[in-house]
Amino acid sequence: MNQEKHTEEGLRQQEFIAKMRKIAEKKEKALGRKLRFHIETFGCQMNARDSEKLSGILREIGYVEEAKEEQADFVLYNTCTVRENANLRIYGRLGTLNSVKKRSNPGLKIAVCGCMMQEPDEVQTIREKYRFVNLVFGTHNIFRLAELMYRMETEERMVIEVWEGTDEIVEDLPAVRKYPFKSGVNIMFGCNNFCTYCIVPYVRGRERSRNPLDIIREIEQLSKDGVKEVMLLGQNVNSYGKTLPEPLSFSELLREVEKVPGIERIRFMTSHPKDLSDDLIEVLGSSEKICSHFHLPLQSGSSRLLEKMNRHYTKERYLEIVEKLRRAVPDISITTDIIVGFPGETEEDFLETLDVVRKVRFDSAFTFIYSKRTGTPAAKMPDQVPEDIVKDRFDRLLALVQTIGQEVSGRDVGRTLPVLVEEQNRQDPHMVSGRLSNNTMVHFKGGTDLVGSIVPVKLIESKGFYYIGELSE
Ligand code: 5AD
Ligand code: SF4
Repeated sequence: MNQEKHTEEGLRQQEFIAKMRKIAEKKEKALGRKLRFHIETFGCQMNARDSEKLSGILREIGYVEEAKEEQADFVLYNTCTVRENANLRIYGRLGTLNSVKKRSNPGLKIAVCGCMMQEPDEVQTIREKYRFVNLVFGTHNIFRLAELMYRMETEERMVIEVWEGTDEIVEDLPAVRKYPFKSGVNIMFGCNNFCTYCIVPYVRGRERSRNPLDIIREIEQLSKDGVKEVMLLGQNVNSYGKTLPEPLSFSELLREVEKVPGIERIRFMTSHPKDLSDDLIEVLGSSEKICSHFHLPLQSGSSRLLEKMNRHYTKERYLEIVEKLRRAVPDISITTDIIVGFPGETEEDFLETLDVVRKVRFDSAFTFIYSKRTGTPAAKMPDQVPEDIVKDRFDRLLALVQTIGQEVSGRDVGRTLPVLVEEQNRQDPHMVSGRLSNNTMVHFKGGTDLVGSIVPVKLIESKGFYYIGELSE
């Protein structure tokens, strides 16, 4: 997609923003106050970043105040569908929202977007059973929010626009950052891996990498705006750049990001073990800015299951990568994702997973019960594991992960390390909270003037998954 195309679509959307602004002004006059919105984000960092873009557009239109659902004029749910209970939650929330609309907020407009809306069955359910919803759109057309809202305001019916896929990447969308000092930056969209349990490739489409110049330009701008930490986002960042007209690897991209002045911390998410290159490990070892945290989804410790999951690595290969990471960055924190109860998982398979957890000693692990997603190959596999067995394994895994996590997370007690202060402590207003390079939270006494800066903090006590510290200086 060339630059002109971006601008052309960008201009078109600017026109709709202007049209919507007029409508918003009228509403504002009628209500005698500013317009309020509520965006709720479910799921991963990619959705969180999409929501920042959506709220950027909303603010340009004139929805300037964030509010609780009951008081909002526009509510948007940005949905996730990676596991089934995420979907069930959305329907529950929509039901509640409908009563709010009926009872006390008749002017409320309701929109649903995100991954769940990329599934035709879910859209059908909304169309039939949730007729009070005003707008439905998917993951590929979020940049058209103003246009879609304009249609929502001018057509007296539910507006539904879901694209099956796209190769378009629209640049220069306005975005509102949740934190002024850190930001997510999309480097690629979609996923080509088709892990057999996963619905993401179906709802997020084929892998598309952003042009490196656009990425660097965005990060330079962020830095000028005061951002110190960037999180490079993609479903599989290690395969970044493979489909670009002039291919550039992820490690080469990291070298470029490293050069941007003002950026002090670089994070990225998510890495797939199969594409993790030695070159990347070398960059990690030599970088001044890349944080000492690596999220490396394991999914299962059984090579037999990994093959059925279409993951393209074995238990041994995974352990070898971990060893290389630790050799390059000795104090690196490693976190992971693990699924329990994948079809055909035996006790032996599960013990292999526990074995990897014991060997790697993860700082933390997101543990998931396998959720059957219609349309994925695993949904049709025989030997779905009975619920009680899965539950038992899940509990055993969680206990192990937590015990090890607590032991590992306290390893820096006594050291003084840089902390990026993120916010006032939620419990104690005399304290602030921030993160170490390895992503562990630290709470310490300090004023809100520290928010956004990186300061040295002595780690006094480990509380399992976070530290209590003391500002040093
Ligand atoms: N069931 C359970 N967990 C899943 N994940 C992806 N798909 C499923 C599923 N069908 C988990 C994986 C992935 C994380 C984001 O969600 O562990 O890494
Ligand atoms: Fe899903 Fe696998 Fe792609 Fe991750 S790499 S989004 S688990 S298909």
